[in-house]
Amino acid sequence: MSLILGIESSCDETAVAVVRDGYQVLSSAVASQIAKHAAHGGVVPELAAREHLTALNPVLDEALATANVTMNDIDAVAVTQGPGLIPALLVGLNFAKGLAIGHHKPLVAVNHFVAHIYAAFLDDGHGVLEDKASYPLLALVVSGGHSSLLLINETGEARQLGCTIDDAAGEALDKASKLLGLGYPGGPIMQKTAEGGDINRFNFPRPLTGSAGKPVAPENLYNFSFSGIKTALLYHYRRECEANGGVFPPELLKDTAASYQEAVVDVLVRKTIAAAREYKVRGIVVSGGVACNSVLRERFEKLTPKNVRLHLTQRKYCTDNAAMVGGCGWHAFKRGEFASFDIDSFARIPMIAKVPFI
Ligand code: KG4
Ligand code: ZN
Repeated sequence: MSLILGIESSCDETAVAVVRDGYQVLSSAVASQIAKHAAHGGVVPELAAREHLTALNPVLDEALATANVTMNDIDAVAVTQGPGLIPALLVGLNFAKGLAIGHHKPLVAVNHFVAHIYAAFLDDGHGVLEDKASYPLLALVVSGGHSSLLLINETGEARQLGCTIDDAAGEALDKASKLLGLGYPGGPIMQKTAEGGDINRFNFPRPLTGSAGKPVAPENLYNFSFSGIKTALLYHYRRECEANGGVFPPELLKDTAASYQEAVVDVLVRKTIAAAREYKVRGIVVSGGVACNSVLRERFEKLTPKNVRLHLTQRKYCTDNAAMVGGCGWHAFKRGEFASFDIDSFARIPMIAKVPFI
C-alpha cells in the first residue's frame, strides 16, 4: 500500500490531496481563489502566486487531517510541474520540493493536462485502465486552458487528434460571460444564466464543423476554434445595444447564454463523437473544468454510441484538484520514476506521446 501526497497550484486553486494506491482518494482539499480574482475579471498570475503561498500550509494540514495521516505515512510527494501559470506553478513546486527534502520522500512530477484525463478514473477506475478491452480510449480535455482530443492505446501511447487553434472552450465561456457583464468564472455563470433559455433563438457559428457549407480542411477535422463564436457574440451584443438605446436588454440574456453555450457544446460533442467513430474507440473520457457543464454531460450521455463506454469525470474532480495529481503520480512512483530536486516549471503543454498511467 502506498500513499501519495498530491499538490496542485497551476492556476487559481490551491489543492492538496492524499491518494492511496492511485485511485482511492482519502482527502482532496481545495482552496479556491475565485473571489480574489473576480474583481479583475480573470486570473492575475502574481496574485495567484501570493495566494498559493499563504494557502498551501493550511490546505496541506486539512488534507492530512481529513485523511487521518501525517507526513510520516506519505510515500512520495507528487506535484504539478506544468502546464500552467509559471508564478503559480513555482510556488507549488517549491513547496513540494521543500516537503520532500524535509521529510526524506521522493518527488514525482505530474503533467497537469494528463492528470485531468486521469481524474476520470479516480475512486473506481482501476479495473478500466487495466483492462485491454477499454482501448483505444479517446480523451476530450476541456478546461480554461485546453481543448484537446487525445487518442490513447492499450500501451499508453497517445496521439493528439486535434486541439484548439485559438481560445480554449472554458476561455470562450469565460470571455462571453465577461462581455455580457455576468462575471467570473464564466462557465458556471453561463450555465446558470442559460437554464430554461431557448438554444435556437440566436444562431451562433459552429467553426470547423462544415456547418456553414464550407468543407473542413483535413488538418482541422478534429481541431477546435472558438474565437469566431466569441466574435459573433460581440456583434450580437453591439447590435442589440444599438437597437435598445445603448443597453443590452436583460430579457435577452437567458436565450443569448443558452444559444452561445449550445454552440460551444455542439462543436465539442460533434467532433468527439465523429473521432470516436473514425478511430473505433472503446471509451470516451470527458474531463477538465468544462466537463462540469450539465448540458455537455447530458449531450454525451445521449449521443455516445452504445458500444462505447463513456467516462464522465465526477464533477468534484473536473476542475483543478490535487487528487488527480496524487493519483496520476502514483503510477510514476510505482515505476520508480522520481524527479530531481532541480526541476523547473513549464507553461505550455509539451507533445504527449505517452500517458504515464497505463
Ligand atoms: O480545469 P480547470 O479548473 O482549470 C484549468 O485547467 O483551466 O477549468 C476551469 C474552466 C473555466 O474556464 C471555467 O469557466 C470552466 O472550467 N467551468 C465550466 C463549468 N465549471 C467550470 N464551464 C462550463 N460549465 C461549467 N459548469
Ligand atoms: Zn486544469
